[in-house]
Amino acid sequence: TCAAGDSQTVVIGLAADSGCGKSTFMRRLTSVFGGAAEPPKGGNPDSNTLISDTTTVICLDDYHSLDRTGRKEKGVTALDPRANDFDLMYEQVKALKDGIAVEKPIYNHVTGLLDPPELIKPPKILVIEGLHPMYDSRVRDLLDFSIYLDISNEVKFAWKIQRDMAERGHSLESIKASIEARKPDFEAYIDPQKQYADAVIEVLPTQLIPDDNEGKILRVRLIQKEGVKYFSPVYLFDDGSTISWIPCGRKLTCSYPGIKFFYGPETYYGNEVSLVEMDGQFDRLDELIYVESHLSNLSTKFYGEVTQQMLKHADFPGSNNGTGLFQTIVGLKIRDLYEQLIATKAETPVAAKA
Ligand code: ADP
Ligand code: G6P
Repeated sequence: TCAAGDSQTVVIGLAADSGCGKSTFMRRLTSVFGGAAEPPKGGNPDSNTLISDTTTVICLDDYHSLDRTGRKEKGVTALDPRANDFDLMYEQVKALKDGIAVEKPIYNHVTGLLDPPELIKPPKILVIEGLHPMYDSRVRDLLDFSIYLDISNEVKFAWKIQRDMAERGHSLESIKASIEARKPDFEAYIDPQKQYADAVIEVLPTQLIPDDNEGKILRVRLIQKEGVKYFSPVYLFDDGSTISWIPCGRKLTCSYPGIKFFYGPETYYGNEVSLVEMDGQFDRLDELIYVESHLSNLSTKFYGEVTQQMLKHADFPGSNNGTGLFQTIVGLKIRDLYEQLIATKAETPVAAKA
């Protein structure tokens, strides 16, 4: 029998601005855990939750305390803590972590209203994704691992244009205006959370092309905090060295402007971190195995698992560059962390009784 409190829910926080690749990352993560997560069956069709055998992903927009009209009236954005109920967020994440089901509100993105709540049962892995998973210190302390997707303004702009202009018919001016309008609150409330993240995926314009402003070729940095329990950073060639690597040549096909890797120690917000960086993009995804074989500590279960995952989801955005590669790697590191965590938790009660 498994009473409340005996459960083993591992809680992961994923923070990013909206439109920055959180859902794509979630799809890669749940795939590493063995099954795609889907909306709850038979529930509210506008639910933001995703559920698989192992993992439940909840969207923190569901903790908006002010609906769209309320935000308009008060003149606050969704990014503003005053539009969000951190007490309830804390209570419910804590309950789930303790093995207790909750009635979680639903923020309806279509109507902008708060819908009647849905029942969330404690999963093996709970991912809380959204604007503020690391904002409130009580919620932050519940996280077993945290990730921040840090998309630079130039790249954010390029992605927004692609989506909102091409797919939603917005004008260039209106996209610029909406990014500018979000900026102050983004900088005040969202961006500072990256200092708490165990892993940050930073996405910048390439440095391989002078003055590039297209935002198509990306320089992506995986910033991994040192000293995090159950998380041992990935490295290139030799743990602790500083290395620049151009893999293009006989074994890796690269067209202009090529690919460049970097690995080394750094300081990030006063913390020691290990950095792995990839600038450029792959021409042929099957050749990724060559790069994979030079990376260590990947937490794969068999040789070539990173390449296999990347090939499996070749149609997801970012599969030919460092965003897809590092999201996949972080997924594997989270699986490893989860397995280590449940192994120790399983031992603890026995030890306590002895
Ligand atoms: P979120 O869940 O944070 O809103 P999504 O994963 O839905 O973000 O991505 C939003 C859009 O951003 C995608 O439709 C795509 O156009 C773009 N995008 C996301 N990730 C990438 C990537 N790695 N490379 C290129 N474009 C991306
Ligand atoms: C959600 C998103 C925010 C977005 C908001 C729309 O909460 O997470 O990123 O800004 O919806 O808010 P609005 O006040 O424009 O309806």
